[in-house]
Amino acid sequence: RKVSLIGAPLDLGGAVQGASLGPTAVRMAGLERRIRALDLDFEDLGDVPVAVPASGDPPEPSARFIREIALHCEALRDRVDETLTRGRFPLVIGGDHAVACGTISGVARNFRRRGQKVGLIWFDAHGDMNTPETSPSGNVHGMPLAACLGFGHRSLTELAGAAPMLDVSNCVLIGVHELDAREKEMIRKVGIRIYTMREIDMMGMQRVMEEALEIANDGTDGFHVSFDVDGCDVSIAPGTGTRVPGGTNFRESHLVLENVADSGRLVSLELTEVNPILDHANRTAELAVGLVESALGKLVL
Ligand code: ARG
Ligand code: MN
Ligand code: MN
Ligand code: MN
Repeated sequence: RKVSLIGAPLDLGGAVQGASLGPTAVRMAGLERRIRALDLDFEDLGDVPVAVPASGDPPEPSARFIREIALHCEALRDRVDETLTRGRFPLVIGGDHAVACGTISGVARNFRRRGQKVGLIWFDAHGDMNTPETSPSGNVHGMPLAACLGFGHRSLTELAGAAPMLDVSNCVLIGVHELDAREKEMIRKVGIRIYTMREIDMMGMQRVMEEALEIANDGTDGFHVSFDVDGCDVSIAPGTGTRVPGGTNFRESHLVLENVADSGRLVSLELTEVNPILDHANRTAELAVGLVESALGKLVL
């Protein structure tokens, strides 16, 4: 596998700033060296630009900074699409989770062009299933999964064309432990398979991942993983903007990505919401580097 790192330093999607420093923090935690140590080819494509919102231009309250976010996602989409066309593996480091609309539209467009289908594993404390109509905050990083399934602001839902980017029957949400009231309705209405922390506690992460991989691989030509570090417990990932107690522990978090690696069907990976401003001595970025290693097949023996 030939890995291409793409930084997506967006933080207009969340309420607090600092996720824009995520790509830098993860680079400084040794990402390149650790990927090369796995004997993989590596290139760093640098960061996709983010527009600075015009001052005095009030953000659209139901989808704050949607214009700037959509522009960033368009550029990210094109970068991811080109990377896949060059036969390489896109590794996107966010940035807030709104960047997923860019990454996933790039993968979806690339696969569609070749007549192929892509599945999705979305790891998160949250559902990210809001739309501008349901969102209590207007923060776009709470909306990207809905957008990828065809619900929400058109500038996001149509990034890969008029049809939804993904087929919901091949998508799965893992690690969820906080949902907004109307977001719950969306999840039921859309019918996405979801494994909350309760299912993880009851079934164990290994069984959850076996089922999740079955969904993501059913009739697809591979799957994308969108990993929000806030799904990991606060004790291992303090450096993130929307912390909720009760996430996955270190071993469970790695087991998600070890199973992903073992499947041999991962086509692209993104890791989002690392915020070094809120962190303790870059430990969340260090966790992120370890998680990327697991996803890329690092084994103890
Ligand atoms: N559900 C909340 C909202 O929509 C929080 C979303 C958090 N999303 C994230 N990617 N961290 O505002
Ligand atoms: Mn998220
Ligand atoms: Mn989240
Ligand atoms: Mn955030």
